[in-house]
Amino acid sequence: MGTKLDEKKTKTDTASLFELLGSSAAKNLREKKHLLEVDHLDKEELELILKTAACLKELKNRDAYPLDLLRGKHLALTFYENSTRTRTSFSIAATNLGANSVSLDISTSSVQKGESLKDTALTLGAMGVEALVIRHASDQAAENLAKDLVGSRGENISIINAGAGRHAHPTQALLDCLTMQEDCGSLEGKKVTILGDTKYSRVARSNARLLPGMGAKLTICSPAYLTATDLNMPGVSITSNFEEAMTDADFVMVLRIQLERQEESLKIDRDDYIRNFQLNHDRLGAASSTVKILHPGPVNRDLELSSALMDDPKFSLIETQVANGIFIRMAILALLMTDC
Ligand code: NCD
Repeated sequence: MGTKLDEKKTKTDTASLFELLGSSAAKNLREKKHLLEVDHLDKEELELILKTAACLKELKNRDAYPLDLLRGKHLALTFYENSTRTRTSFSIAATNLGANSVSLDISTSSVQKGESLKDTALTLGAMGVEALVIRHASDQAAENLAKDLVGSRGENISIINAGAGRHAHPTQALLDCLTMQEDCGSLEGKKVTILGDTKYSRVARSNARLLPGMGAKLTICSPAYLTATDLNMPGVSITSNFEEAMTDADFVMVLRIQLERQEESLKIDRDDYIRNFQLNHDRLGAASSTVKILHPGPVNRDLELSSALMDDPKFSLIETQVANGIFIRMAILALLMTDC
């Protein structure tokens, strides 16, 4: 009886998935071809990605994987910066959809012989790669690559931004949004505080471009020397006052101090930072009674976030974020690469 019901539900979920993939918003998304930053997409397209991810999650819960959607297709993972979560989750997302992913080992590739991003993409394209996932230290790397390919043999390759400098990390913001929506239903009127080094953070920037449009009230809280002053935009308030940022917060997204992106002259007093900006159980006081903690990872335990709070299932959504990363990346690959 249970099995029959499950089969019926799986059929319904599969039908919903095909409906989403065949929708007019999906066609628009495929015409855009790339995923470079959240503000290149309209609300309907963003909601389509979130809904498709939720639908793929349902199918996973029904043991319907691997899906056969992208069989015979190849995507390349080109990570010019370190990554654990993002690269692995794109790779698992591809496998779950029946696609093949090849991971370019930058340290042993022809990049070391001076090959340009465009030539690397053209080479991969000539081998049948249809989507190229790129992480790079330069803010404009993904956008410039997409522009450079226009009019070339590689112009049909979808470029997917997996983190560019301090500028953008669209798949992270989308998975953060999905995780919070799952927790609270809708972000309408919810207070989301992004706490930590926002100045050097692509995660903060993509979330600032996404969350206000989803109804959230966004507060950015950093010490003055780590504040993203460029995020002074409608729907975002900026403060260095920790108590103010925590008051009534429904979600607190904690960020790492991104030493690798900072000017060498910037000296951070670790103890002072911990005293004033670390989030731990004792400092949750003024937040909503149902407050939840997020972090894109990697976490520097007991620096920006106490180990105890990070591991406390009552508050922490960090593992859910990691799991949801796979569904968001599956949704993006399915929406951009399916032939409909
Ligand atoms: C982030 C990144 O690389 O932008 N991590 C991630 O993708 N999960 C954040 C960070 O490095 O701090």
